Amino acid sequence: MRPSLVGGSALLVDLTAAGLPLSSESLFGRPCRLEVELGSGKGRFLLAWAAAHPEIGILAVERARKYAELAAARAVREGLGNVRIAATTAEDLLFRCLSPGSVGGCHVYFPDPWPKKKHQKRRFFRPDNLQRLVDLLQPGGMLWVKTDHPDYAAVIGPLLAAQPGLESHDEVEAFAAMPATNFEIKYAREERPIHRFAFRRL
Ligand SMILES: C[S@@+](CC[C@H](N)C(=O)[O-])C[C@H]1O[C@@H](n2cnc3c(N)ncnc32)[C@H](O)[C@@H]1O
Repeated sequence: MRPSLVGGSALLVDLTAAGLPLSSESLFGRPCRLEVELGSGKGRFLLAWAAAHPEIGILAVERARKYAELAAARAVREGLGNVRIAATTAEDLLFRCLSPGSVGGCHVYFPDPWPKKKHQKRRFFRPDNLQRLVDLLQPGGMLWVKTDHPDYAAVIGPLLAAQPGLESHDEVEAFAAMPATNFEIKYAREERPIHRFAFRRL
């Protein structure tokens, strides 16, 4: 599947035309490690990570179409052939678009914390989403997560630790070479503590 020209960008994946499940071959025309970023926002991390790792292919999903288009346009300008972006939800990507064992790494940075109790069911980190994510990861595949929200961190940490099939990975090592995201830069300026989690698929 060639990425279609949607929103003026050659790197936006048109999921209405794409053959599913997606794969590194169908997205990038070559077998390579496929990583995903869920909720990529304006794409600062995505573009920096893709530039630092030309050997991988990275597929981001971003629900806000204007941000997906902005990040795709930037990736085109920077000549990053190993980036694709789909303007859809993380849940759609996980449950409809990818097959088990196809993902080498997954980045989830500053997922919406939905702080009000009545909205917490909208949080991404809940058992069904996490189980599917684990199923999609290859053995040895990594899951990297950051949040600034202490209450959400207090949910995410135990959820990941209790998930069969995942083992905790040293966070200092796992995040040593990770570029900052847009929100991370903003929160660092505000001196908000950042909670980081790195887990590996057994
Ligand atoms: C707090 S921002 C973080 C953006 C980026 N990861 C960063 O750190 O700069 C959360 C982003 O996730 C997107 N988002 C929220 N829920 C989503 C979902 N279910 N699927 C895909 N994107 C989602 C939002 O539109 C927003 O751009």
